[in-house]
Amino acid sequence: MRVYLDNTATSWPKPKSVVEAITDYMVHCGASPGRSGHRMSLQAAHIIYDARDLIAKMFNAEASEKVIFTANATLASNIALKGILKKGDHAIISHLEHNSTLRPLKHLEQSGLIDLSIIDCDKNGNINIEQLKNSFRPNTKIVATIHGSNVIGKVLPIAEIGAICKTHSVLYMIDAAQTAGFVPIDMQAQHIDILTFTGHKKLYGPSGTGGLCFGKNVEIDTFIHGGSGSKSEIEFHPDFYPDKLEAGTPNTVGIAGLKAGLEFIFSEGIDKIRQHSHNISKYFIDNLLKIDEIKIHGYDSENEVLPVISVTSPLITPSKFAEILDKDYEIMTRPGLHCAPLAHKAAGTFPQGTLRFSPGYFNTQEEIDYTIKSLKEILVIKNT
Ligand code: ALA
Repeated sequence: MRVYLDNTATSWPKPKSVVEAITDYMVHCGASPGRSGHRMSLQAAHIIYDARDLIAKMFNAEASEKVIFTANATLASNIALKGILKKGDHAIISHLEHNSTLRPLKHLEQSGLIDLSIIDCDKNGNINIEQLKNSFRPNTKIVATIHGSNVIGKVLPIAEIGAICKTHSVLYMIDAAQTAGFVPIDMQAQHIDILTFTGHKKLYGPSGTGGLCFGKNVEIDTFIHGGSGSKSEIEFHPDFYPDKLEAGTPNTVGIAGLKAGLEFIFSEGIDKIRQHSHNISKYFIDNLLKIDEIKIHGYDSENEVLPVISVTSPLITPSKFAEILDKDYEIMTRPGLHCAPLAHKAAGTFPQGTLRFSPGYFNTQEEIDYTIKSLKEILVIKNT
Protein backbone atom coordinates (compact mmCIF):
# COMPACT_ATOMS: atom_id res chain seq x y z
CA MET A 1 0.00 0.00 0.00
CA ARG A 2 1.36 3.45 -0.91
CA VAL A 3 0.57 6.11 1.71
CA TYR A 4 1.20 9.79 1.06
CA LEU A 5 1.58 11.70 4.34
CA ASP A 6 3.48 14.75 3.10
CA ASN A 7 0.59 17.13 2.40
CA THR A 8 2.34 19.96 4.23
CA ALA A 9 5.02 19.91 1.52
CA THR A 10 2.44 19.64 -1.24
CA SER A 11 -1.01 18.08 -1.41
CA TRP A 12 -1.43 14.80 -3.25
CA PRO A 13 -3.44 13.47 -4.93
CA LYS A 14 -5.13 16.48 -6.49
CA PRO A 15 -8.89 16.43 -7.07
CA LYS A 16 -9.85 14.90 -10.45
CA SER A 17 -11.33 18.25 -11.52
CA VAL A 18 -7.91 19.91 -11.12
CA VAL A 19 -6.22 17.38 -13.38
CA GLU A 20 -9.07 17.76 -15.90
CA ALA A 21 -8.82 21.58 -15.88
CA ILE A 22 -5.09 21.40 -16.58
CA THR A 23 -5.60 18.93 -19.43
CA ASP A 24 -8.54 20.90 -20.79
CA TYR A 25 -6.48 24.10 -20.94
CA MET A 26 -3.59 22.33 -22.68
CA VAL A 27 -5.83 20.54 -25.19
CA HIS A 28 -8.53 23.12 -25.92
CA CYS A 29 -7.10 26.55 -25.12
CA GLY A 30 -3.37 26.88 -24.51
CA ALA A 31 -3.25 30.55 -25.55
CA SER A 32 -1.60 33.57 -23.93
CA PRO A 33 -4.00 35.63 -21.78
CA GLY A 34 -4.31 39.40 -21.99
CA ARG A 35 -2.13 39.60 -25.08
CA SER A 36 -3.48 38.67 -28.50
CA GLY A 37 -7.21 39.34 -28.24
CA HIS A 38 -8.42 36.33 -30.24
CA ARG A 39 -11.00 33.95 -28.78
CA MET A 40 -8.45 31.54 -27.35
CA SER A 41 -6.54 34.38 -25.72
CA LEU A 42 -9.78 35.74 -24.25
CA GLN A 43 -10.64 32.28 -22.92
CA ALA A 44 -7.24 32.14 -21.20
CA ALA A 45 -7.74 35.67 -19.80
CA HIS A 46 -11.08 34.55 -18.34
CA ILE A 47 -9.39 31.71 -16.48
CA ILE A 48 -6.98 34.16 -14.81
CA TYR A 49 -9.72 36.69 -14.12
CA ASP A 50 -11.97 34.08 -12.49
CA ALA A 51 -9.11 32.64 -10.44
CA ARG A 52 -8.26 36.14 -9.15
CA ASP A 53 -11.88 36.63 -8.15
CA LEU A 54 -12.03 33.28 -6.38
CA ILE A 55 -8.87 34.08 -4.40
CA ALA A 56 -10.34 37.46 -3.37
CA LYS A 57 -13.54 35.67 -2.31
CA MET A 58 -11.65 32.97 -0.38
CA PHE A 59 -9.87 35.55 1.82
CA ASN A 60 -12.40 38.39 1.67
CA ALA A 61 -9.73 40.58 0.09
CA GLU A 62 -10.73 44.17 -0.65
CA ALA A 63 -10.04 44.14 -4.37
CA SER A 64 -9.36 41.38 -6.88
CA GLU A 65 -6.91 43.63 -8.79
CA LYS A 66 -4.74 43.42 -5.68
CA VAL A 67 -4.50 39.66 -6.03
CA ILE A 68 -1.14 38.97 -7.65
CA PHE A 69 -0.12 35.60 -9.05
CA THR A 70 3.45 34.43 -8.51
CA ALA A 71 5.35 31.17 -8.91
CA ASN A 72 5.13 30.34 -5.20
CA ALA A 73 4.68 31.77 -1.71
CA THR A 74 8.40 32.49 -1.35
CA LEU A 75 8.36 34.81 -4.36
CA ALA A 76 5.16 36.43 -3.04
CA SER A 77 6.84 37.01 0.32
CA ASN A 78 9.95 38.54 -1.34
CA ILE A 79 7.82 40.82 -3.55
CA ALA A 80 5.84 42.07 -0.55
CA LEU A 81 8.64 42.49 1.99
CA LYS A 82 11.20 43.98 -0.40
CA GLY A 83 8.58 46.15 -2.07
CA ILE A 84 7.32 47.61 1.20
CA LEU A 85 10.34 47.95 3.50
CA LYS A 86 12.62 50.95 3.04
CA LYS A 87 15.94 51.95 4.62
CA GLY A 88 15.52 52.61 8.33
CA ASP A 89 12.34 50.55 8.75
CA HIS A 90 11.80 48.01 11.50
CA ALA A 91 10.06 44.65 11.02
CA ILE A 92 8.73 42.14 13.53
CA ILE A 93 8.32 38.39 12.97
CA SER A 94 7.70 35.34 15.15
CA HIS A 95 9.81 32.34 16.09
CA LEU A 96 7.62 30.06 13.96
CA GLU A 97 8.56 31.60 10.61
CA HIS A 98 9.41 29.62 7.53
CA ASN A 99 12.58 30.63 5.66
CA SER A 100 10.37 32.31 3.05
CA THR A 101 9.82 35.12 5.57
CA LEU A 102 12.96 34.79 7.68
CA ARG A 103 15.54 34.81 4.91
CA PRO A 104 14.37 37.88 2.93
CA LEU A 105 14.24 39.84 6.19
CA LYS A 106 17.60 38.52 7.42
CA HIS A 107 19.04 39.59 4.06
CA LEU A 108 17.60 43.12 4.43
CA GLU A 109 18.89 43.27 8.01
CA GLN A 110 22.37 42.08 7.03
CA SER A 111 22.44 44.66 4.23
CA GLY A 112 21.95 47.36 6.86
CA LEU A 113 18.55 48.38 5.50
CA ILE A 114 16.20 47.34 8.29
CA ASP A 115 16.08 46.29 11.94
CA LEU A 116 14.40 43.02 12.79
CA SER A 117 12.80 41.74 16.00
CA ILE A 118 11.82 38.11 16.51
CA ILE A 119 9.06 37.37 19.02
CA ASP A 120 9.39 34.23 21.17
CA CYS A 121 7.04 31.28 20.89
CA ASP A 122 6.88 28.48 23.46
CA LYS A 123 7.36 24.81 22.61
CA ASN A 124 3.72 24.53 21.56
CA GLY A 125 4.05 27.57 19.32
CA ASN A 126 2.16 30.05 21.53
CA ILE A 127 3.41 33.50 20.64
CA ASN A 128 4.40 35.88 23.45
CA ILE A 129 1.78 38.60 22.92
CA GLU A 130 3.19 40.90 25.66
CA GLN A 131 6.62 40.80 24.03
CA LEU A 132 4.99 41.60 20.70
CA LYS A 133 3.15 44.60 22.18
CA ASN A 134 6.42 45.88 23.68
CA SER A 135 8.38 45.48 20.45
CA PHE A 136 6.76 48.27 18.45
CA ARG A 137 9.04 51.23 17.70
CA PRO A 138 8.36 54.55 15.95
CA ASN A 139 9.90 53.08 12.77
CA THR A 140 8.07 49.73 12.83
CA LYS A 141 6.59 49.26 9.34
CA ILE A 142 5.38 45.68 9.33
CA VAL A 143 4.60 42.66 11.48
CA ALA A 144 4.85 39.43 9.48
CA THR A 145 3.81 36.10 10.95
CA ILE A 146 3.08 32.64 9.73
CA HIS A 147 -0.60 31.71 10.13
CA GLY A 148 -0.17 27.97 10.64
CA SER A 149 3.16 26.32 11.46
CA ASN A 150 4.49 23.79 8.94
CA VAL A 151 6.46 22.16 11.78
CA ILE A 152 4.05 21.73 14.69
CA GLY A 153 0.75 22.81 13.16
CA LYS A 154 0.14 25.66 15.60
CA VAL A 155 -2.37 28.23 14.29
CA LEU A 156 -1.46 31.74 15.42
CA PRO A 157 -4.17 34.15 16.68
CA ILE A 158 -4.10 36.36 13.58
CA ALA A 159 -7.20 38.40 14.49
CA GLU A 160 -5.61 39.36 17.82
CA ILE A 161 -2.26 40.20 16.22
CA GLY A 162 -4.04 42.09 13.43
CA ALA A 163 -5.93 44.20 15.97
CA ILE A 164 -2.69 45.02 17.82
CA CYS A 165 -1.04 46.08 14.54
CA LYS A 166 -4.04 48.24 13.69
CA THR A 167 -3.75 50.17 16.98
CA HIS A 168 -0.11 50.93 16.07
CA SER A 169 -0.96 51.74 12.41
CA VAL A 170 1.53 49.07 11.38
CA LEU A 171 0.99 46.72 8.44
CA TYR A 172 0.18 43.09 9.24
CA MET A 173 1.25 40.39 6.79
CA ILE A 174 0.44 36.69 7.14
CA ASP A 175 2.03 33.69 5.49
CA ALA A 176 -1.00 31.52 4.73
CA ALA A 177 0.94 28.80 2.88
CA GLN A 178 -0.39 26.11 5.24
CA THR A 179 -3.82 27.55 6.02
CA ALA A 180 -5.18 28.95 2.74
CA GLY A 181 -8.10 26.71 1.82
CA PHE A 182 -8.15 25.06 5.24
CA VAL A 183 -8.68 27.70 7.94
CA PRO A 184 -11.22 30.42 7.09
CA ILE A 185 -9.49 33.78 6.66
CA ASP A 186 -11.18 37.17 6.46
CA MET A 187 -8.57 39.79 5.59
CA GLN A 188 -10.88 42.70 6.35
CA ALA A 189 -12.33 41.46 9.65
CA GLN A 190 -8.97 40.17 10.89
CA HIS A 191 -7.03 43.34 9.92
CA ILE A 192 -4.70 41.55 7.53
CA ASP A 193 -3.03 43.97 5.13
CA ILE A 194 -1.03 41.45 3.12
CA LEU A 195 -1.55 37.71 2.71
CA THR A 196 0.76 35.34 0.85
CA PHE A 197 -0.41 31.94 -0.33
CA THR A 198 0.78 28.95 -2.26
CA GLY A 199 -1.45 27.20 -4.75
CA HIS A 200 -0.18 23.65 -4.44
CA LYS A 201 -0.90 22.80 -0.82
CA LYS A 202 -4.41 23.17 0.59
CA LEU A 203 -5.73 25.01 -2.46
CA TYR A 204 -5.11 21.79 -4.46
CA GLY A 205 -3.54 23.52 -7.46
CA PRO A 206 -0.29 22.44 -9.13
CA SER A 207 3.18 23.57 -8.05
CA GLY A 208 4.34 26.79 -9.71
CA THR A 209 1.28 28.68 -8.46
CA GLY A 210 0.98 31.08 -5.55
CA GLY A 211 0.57 34.76 -4.89
CA LEU A 212 -0.31 37.58 -2.60
CA CYS A 213 -3.36 39.72 -1.80
CA PHE A 214 -3.19 43.12 -0.20
CA GLY A 215 -5.47 45.89 0.96
CA LYS A 216 -6.48 49.00 -0.97
CA ASN A 217 -4.15 51.21 1.08
CA VAL A 218 -1.07 49.02 0.68
CA GLU A 219 1.47 50.08 -1.94
CA ILE A 220 4.17 47.67 -3.07
CA ASP A 221 7.12 48.78 -5.18
CA THR A 222 8.20 46.44 -7.93
CA PHE A 223 11.55 45.14 -9.07
CA ILE A 224 9.86 43.42 -12.03
CA HIS A 225 9.51 45.36 -15.27
CA GLY A 226 8.54 43.95 -18.64
CA GLY A 227 5.73 42.85 -20.90
CA SER A 228 2.32 43.18 -19.31
CA GLY A 229 0.03 43.22 -22.34
CA SER A 230 -1.10 46.68 -21.20
CA LYS A 231 0.10 50.25 -21.99
CA SER A 232 2.53 48.87 -24.56
CA GLU A 233 2.97 52.36 -26.00
CA ILE A 234 4.89 53.57 -22.92
CA GLU A 235 8.48 52.67 -22.10
CA PHE A 236 7.88 52.18 -18.41
CA HIS A 237 6.09 49.42 -16.59
CA PRO A 238 2.43 50.22 -15.73
CA ASP A 239 1.86 51.39 -12.17
CA PHE A 240 -1.61 49.90 -11.74
CA TYR A 241 -2.38 46.53 -10.18
CA PRO A 242 -2.22 43.66 -10.90
CA ASP A 243 0.02 44.55 -13.89
CA LYS A 244 2.48 46.48 -11.70
CA LEU A 245 3.58 43.27 -9.94
CA GLU A 246 3.05 40.80 -12.77
CA ALA A 247 5.12 40.78 -15.96
CA GLY A 248 5.75 38.20 -18.63
CA THR A 249 3.45 35.39 -19.73
CA PRO A 250 1.72 33.98 -16.66
CA ASN A 251 1.49 30.35 -15.65
CA THR A 252 -1.97 29.99 -17.19
CA VAL A 253 -1.97 26.20 -17.15
CA GLY A 254 -1.10 26.25 -13.45
CA ILE A 255 -3.68 28.92 -12.69
CA ALA A 256 -6.32 26.87 -14.56
CA GLY A 257 -5.54 24.03 -12.14
CA LEU A 258 -5.56 26.40 -9.17
CA LYS A 259 -8.95 27.78 -10.23
CA ALA A 260 -10.33 24.22 -10.27
CA GLY A 261 -8.79 23.65 -6.83
CA LEU A 262 -10.53 26.75 -5.48
CA GLU A 263 -13.82 25.61 -7.01
CA PHE A 264 -13.33 22.20 -5.42
CA ILE A 265 -12.94 23.80 -1.96
CA PHE A 266 -16.00 26.03 -2.43
CA SER A 267 -18.09 23.05 -3.55
CA GLU A 268 -16.88 20.65 -0.80
CA GLY A 269 -16.86 23.35 1.89
CA ILE A 270 -13.87 24.21 4.08
CA ASP A 271 -15.62 22.80 7.17
CA LYS A 272 -16.02 19.35 5.63
CA ILE A 273 -12.41 19.30 4.42
CA ARG A 274 -11.16 20.42 7.80
CA GLN A 275 -13.34 17.98 9.73
CA HIS A 276 -12.05 15.01 7.76
CA SER A 277 -8.42 16.06 8.17
CA HIS A 278 -8.90 16.67 11.89
CA ASN A 279 -10.57 13.27 12.35
CA ILE A 280 -7.76 11.47 10.55
CA SER A 281 -5.16 13.46 12.42
CA LYS A 282 -6.76 12.82 15.81
CA TYR A 283 -7.02 9.10 15.07
CA PHE A 284 -3.34 9.09 14.11
CA ILE A 285 -2.28 11.05 17.22
CA ASP A 286 -4.37 8.88 19.58
CA ASN A 287 -2.56 5.83 18.25
CA LEU A 288 0.86 7.49 18.32
CA LEU A 289 0.34 8.44 21.98
CA LYS A 290 0.17 4.72 22.78
CA ILE A 291 3.69 4.14 21.41
CA ASP A 292 6.19 4.84 24.22
CA GLU A 293 9.17 5.16 21.86
CA ILE A 294 7.59 8.08 19.99
CA LYS A 295 7.35 11.65 21.23
CA ILE A 296 4.98 14.10 19.54
CA HIS A 297 6.23 17.70 19.50
CA GLY A 298 4.09 20.80 19.90
CA TYR A 299 0.91 18.78 20.27
CA ASP A 300 -1.82 20.94 21.73
CA SER A 301 -5.12 19.16 22.35
CA GLU A 302 -6.76 22.36 23.64
CA ASN A 303 -6.36 24.64 20.64
CA GLU A 304 -6.76 24.34 16.91
CA VAL A 305 -3.78 22.80 15.17
CA LEU A 306 -3.23 21.83 11.55
CA PRO A 307 -2.88 18.17 10.55
CA VAL A 308 0.90 18.40 10.98
CA ILE A 309 2.38 15.78 13.31
CA SER A 310 6.06 16.13 14.18
CA VAL A 311 7.65 13.25 16.07
CA THR A 312 11.01 11.99 17.29
CA SER A 313 12.18 8.68 18.71
CA PRO A 314 15.28 7.95 20.81
CA LEU A 315 15.71 4.77 18.77
CA ILE A 316 16.15 6.27 15.31
CA THR A 317 16.97 9.59 13.62
CA PRO A 318 14.19 11.36 11.69
CA SER A 319 15.99 10.93 8.37
CA LYS A 320 16.63 7.19 8.88
CA PHE A 321 13.02 6.77 9.99
CA ALA A 322 11.73 8.51 6.84
CA GLU A 323 14.07 6.49 4.65
CA ILE A 324 12.85 3.15 6.04
CA LEU A 325 9.21 4.24 5.83
CA ASP A 326 9.67 5.08 2.15
CA LYS A 327 11.90 2.19 1.07
CA ASP A 328 10.32 -0.66 3.02
CA TYR A 329 6.72 0.50 3.50
CA GLU A 330 6.00 3.06 0.72
CA ILE A 331 4.99 5.68 3.28
CA MET A 332 5.92 9.26 2.32
CA THR A 333 6.93 11.70 5.08
CA ARG A 334 9.36 14.60 5.46
CA PRO A 335 12.20 14.53 8.02
CA GLY A 336 14.55 17.34 9.13
CA LEU A 337 14.06 21.05 9.69
CA HIS A 338 11.30 21.68 7.13
CA CYS A 339 12.87 25.02 6.03
CA ALA A 340 11.87 26.46 9.41
CA PRO A 341 14.88 26.30 11.77
CA LEU A 342 13.46 28.93 14.14
CA ALA A 343 10.30 26.87 14.67
CA HIS A 344 12.42 23.84 15.56
CA LYS A 345 14.36 25.98 18.03
CA ALA A 346 11.05 26.98 19.64
CA ALA A 347 9.88 23.36 19.71
CA GLY A 348 13.23 22.17 21.13
CA THR A 349 13.95 19.93 18.15
CA PHE A 350 16.86 21.85 16.59
CA PRO A 351 19.22 20.83 14.92
CA GLN A 352 18.13 17.27 14.25
CA GLY A 353 14.56 18.21 13.42
CA THR A 354 11.64 15.81 13.42
CA LEU A 355 9.89 13.25 11.31
CA ARG A 356 6.77 14.97 10.02
CA PHE A 357 3.52 13.25 9.07
CA SER A 358 0.97 15.45 7.36
CA PRO A 359 -2.30 13.76 6.46
CA GLY A 360 -4.63 15.33 3.93
CA TYR A 361 -8.20 15.27 2.75
CA PHE A 362 -7.75 12.06 0.77
CA ASN A 363 -6.13 9.91 3.46
CA THR A 364 -8.14 7.05 4.93
CA GLN A 365 -8.26 5.37 8.33
CA GLU A 366 -6.96 2.20 6.70
CA GLU A 367 -3.83 4.08 5.60
CA ILE A 368 -3.28 5.38 9.13
CA ASP A 369 -3.69 1.85 10.56
CA TYR A 370 -1.06 0.62 8.10
CA THR A 371 1.26 3.49 9.06
CA ILE A 372 0.90 2.83 12.80
CA LYS A 373 1.55 -0.89 12.25
CA SER A 374 4.64 -0.05 10.17
CA LEU A 375 5.99 2.35 12.79
CA LYS A 376 5.64 -0.29 15.50
CA GLU A 377 7.40 -2.84 13.32
CA ILE A 378 10.33 -0.50 12.64
CA LEU A 379 10.69 0.41 16.31
CA VAL A 380 10.60 -3.24 17.43
CA ILE A 381 13.32 -4.08 14.89
CA LYS A 382 15.40 -1.11 16.08
CA ASN A 383 14.94 -2.13 19.70
CA THR A 384 16.20 -5.68 19.25
N1 ALA B 1 7.26 24.41 3.35
C1 ALA B 1 7.01 23.12 2.84
C2 ALA B 1 7.18 22.08 3.90
O1 ALA B 1 7.01 22.37 5.05
C3 ALA B 1 7.77 22.83 1.62
O2 ALA B 1 7.48 20.94 3.59
